[in-house]
Amino acid sequence: MEIKNICCIGAGYVGGPTMAVIALKNPQLKITIVDANPDKIKAWNGPLENLPVYEPGLADVIQTTRGKNLFFSDDIDNAILKAEMIFMSVNTPTKTEGEGAGMASDLRYIEACARNIAKIATTDKIVIEKSTLPVRTAEKIKEILDLEGNGVHFEILSNPEFLAEGTAIQDLLEPDRVLIGGDETESGQESVSALVDIYANWIPKDKILTTNVWSSELSKLAANAMLAQRVSSINSLSALCEKTGANIDELSKAIGMDHRIGSHFLKASVGFGGSCFQKDILNLVYLCKYYGLDEVAEYWHQVVKINDYQKDRFAQKIIDHFGGDLTGKRIVILGWAFKANTNDSRESAAIYVAEKLFKAGATLEIYDPMVSKESILDDIQVYWKCSSEIVKDRIRILNKTSSIKESDAVAILTEWNEFKKIEFYKSKVFDGRNVLEESFYSIGKNK
Ligand code: UDX
Ligand code: UDX
Repeated sequence: MEIKNICCIGAGYVGGPTMAVIALKNPQLKITIVDANPDKIKAWNGPLENLPVYEPGLADVIQTTRGKNLFFSDDIDNAILKAEMIFMSVNTPTKTEGEGAGMASDLRYIEACARNIAKIATTDKIVIEKSTLPVRTAEKIKEILDLEGNGVHFEILSNPEFLAEGTAIQDLLEPDRVLIGGDETESGQESVSALVDIYANWIPKDKILTTNVWSSELSKLAANAMLAQRVSSINSLSALCEKTGANIDELSKAIGMDHRIGSHFLKASVGFGGSCFQKDILNLVYLCKYYGLDEVAEYWHQVVKINDYQKDRFAQKIIDHFGGDLTGKRIVILGWAFKANTNDSRESAAIYVAEKLFKAGATLEIYDPMVSKESILDDIQVYWKCSSEIVKDRIRILNKTSSIKESDAVAILTEWNEFKKIEFYKSKVFDGRNVLEESFYSIGKNK
């Protein structure tokens, strides 16, 4: 099948940057990104400095491709109708109710996408899972497409995205590997080849890995679990460092110089966040339990439990320093994003740590260079479940570092570079990212 038109459903952190780079490297293709949220589409079509996703280098790629071979549209049905290849890049959060609540992935958006494709399609389509999904989801999608479709042929591929936020464009331009899973049938392999050809326009063939669908789906969950496990491993050791007088940064360096271990993902922190790690591990735990592998499930669950422990331990350090009560204390929160160089705060450690400080009585002043005031207040409302009156009384969002005055304590929760230059006067700094040379308390350093 010759591919000329591509549609991507979901204009989020994954769909937006990924399609922009595919468009940049494939000027012969016309790519249309659609989204159920028309405001998001409007923002993607608006000024480059206000795109819905902040990523270094993204605005340049959008400027080059937008209106030429990359289009953002809210006409979902028309884009599906015209495309030979459809990427599904909608979100798959952890289920909040029903069977598997708190663990399993909520597939309702993916299933709704499949239903819509089935209803609209009048020609054969290649449907690609871009969203991270539990193993064997492709089966379910195929069932929906075949049962509810108009008799046309659907081929399902799994093509998980491995980009990390903050370095998305670089990761997409020079990925470690691209993974494509497809059926071992003739039509399955033809579809795999069609997608390989698109990536081969800029990625060396030996980095494009093809597997069966299930290996591809599971590899994404496994990669995220292994990465998160390294962070929880080093964070668990940071607690021991504080008891023994070892220094976690020295320990990370010494461990990481062993080439069998490697130096990446060994930075101790207040805890990992982001839309993927916790969700994907809980999903893995749920899958293991489903298949009766309780020991395996418990092994991976521990990665999330250590992460919760680390966030809690950090907040408790501050509370204990003030004798267990923060009433009347003014605490500055530096950083709301789950990591530097992104405006994304999903599952950010900051949301949890700030909540615990607030509920212990503190008055908070919050600053992040990229996360908007609206997003911060929205996170507070959704996750803290406090009355807006109390929140209004004891929370202020700062919009520049120059307004940071001396306070009782400062908590650094995201590793933004600009925090290194702030004058803290006599404030007690609790450095949750070990970005400062000197602080009152740093993770994993004996003080
Ligand atoms: C991605 C992946 O798809 C997800 O599986 C992964 O685990 C996290 O990253 P992401 O791009 O970060 O999701 O999510 P988000 O930025 O929320 O974007 C998803 C978009 O899909 C949203 O803009 C949402 O409006 C859109 N959407 C959702 C639809 O267009 N239709 C729907 O039915 C549901
Ligand atoms: C992750 C995976 O890296 C990526 O491959 C996948 O596609 C999506 O999930 P992302 O969540 O965007 O990417 O960021 P990542 O750089 O992995 O960081 C995740 C969290 O771990 C952040 O909160 C980060 O601050 C934290 N982290 C990371 C540490 O605390 N220490 C480290 O050494 C590395």
